[in-house]
Amino acid sequence: MRLFIAIELPDHCKKALGELRSAIPGARWVPAEQIHLTLAFLGEVGEETSKQLTGALARIQAPSFSLSIAGTGCFPNRHHPRVLWIGVKPEPVLAGLAAMIHETVLACGIPQEERPFSPHLTFARLKLPCAREVGAFLDLHGSVELPSFPVKEFTIFRSRLSQQGAEHIPVRSFPLTTPG
Ligand code: 2AM
Repeated sequence: MRLFIAIELPDHCKKALGELRSAIPGARWVPAEQIHLTLAFLGEVGEETSKQLTGALARIQAPSFSLSIAGTGCFPNRHHPRVLWIGVKPEPVLAGLAAMIHETVLACGIPQEERPFSPHLTFARLKLPCAREVGAFLDLHGSVELPSFPVKEFTIFRSRLSQQGAEHIPVRSFPLTTPG
C-alpha cells in the first residue's frame, strides 16, 4: 500500500482554494477535494509495518491547534516552477507534531527524507515552462489568507494511482488532545 500522513482541510477551505485556480499552461491542478497538508510521505508499506506504524502513531500525544492557511509560493523557484503551493502560517505545535510523526515513522523502519519539514498545500504540478503565469498567480494571491480552523486529528491516507490520477482514501485518523 502506498501511504502518506496528512491533515485534512475543512470542505469550505478546499472550496475556497479551488476557486483560486487560474490559466497556467500545462498545470495539473490538485482536485480541490484532495488538497491536504502532508506531514509524512511513507511510500509503499507492507501489511506488518503498517500495523506496527498504526499502533505507534496511536501512542503519539500532541495537542490540537489552530491552523491558518496563508500565502502562496512555488518549488524550487519562480524561474523554473515545478510545484505551485498555498502556504500555512508557521505554527510551532504543527512543527512539533510533524517531528513526532517523523521519528515514529523512522522507528518503524520506514525511510524519511532528511529535508526539514516545510509545510505547504500542493496546489498544482507544473510540467511546462510557465514562469510568467506562475509569477502573475503569486503576485495576485501572495497575500491570500483563509480563516483559521481547528486541527483535531491527523490521518493516514492510502494513495491509489490510476490512469485518472491519484485517489486518496483515509485509512485511519488519530485524535490530538484537547489542551487544558
Ligand atoms: P506534497 O505534494 O504536498 O509535497 C501524497 O502523494 C502526498 O505525499 C503528496 O501530496 C506529496 O506531498 C507527498 N509526497 C512527498 N514525497 C513524495 C514522493 N516522493 N512521491 C509522492 N508523493 C510524495
